[in-house]
Amino acid sequence: MAVETTLILCKPDAIERRLVGEIVGRLERRGYAVRAMQMMTLDKARAKRHYGEHEGKPFFDELVSFITSGPLVALAVEGEGVIEGCRQMIGATDPLKAAPGSVRADFAQTVGRNLVHASDSAESARRELPIFFDTFG
Ligand code: RTP
Ligand code: MG
Repeated sequence: MAVETTLILCKPDAIERRLVGEIVGRLERRGYAVRAMQMMTLDKARAKRHYGEHEGKPFFDELVSFITSGPLVALAVEGEGVIEGCRQMIGATDPLKAAPGSVRADFAQTVGRNLVHASDSAESARRELPIFFDTFG
């Protein structure tokens, strides 16, 4: 498995609930390397670019509104198989369906407040990382 880089977002609910350290700590304890990390508040344009694949879906407006509602912490995280590994670690989109021990199962209740984003494929990581970090452009 090749060394890859993925985009992780600790969403505004993770900041609000003081769970950034917990989430980043889990990634580091697995052995993944934080290569970039920044706290920022997204404007609507950048949020729509990031979640462009969902434009037109019924939850899109609420999703953009939530992700721009306060600061988030964006990270570029590197490791062997890190894209799939982080998807496993965050768990399914709906916390009720997330595997026990995943971030969403352990700390979240609803699909709209699921704490963390992780790129879902190599193609998504390539597209998403430059939205947050110039160094990956
Ligand atoms: P994310 O992109 O945030 O990492 O989450 P994900 O891949 O697990 O899920 P995705 O399908 O990409 O959906 C993005 C976010 O949209 C909200 N959502 N709501 N009400 C719904 O049916 C619904 N479906 C998705 C979630 O907040 C999800 O994280
Ligand atoms: Mg997604």
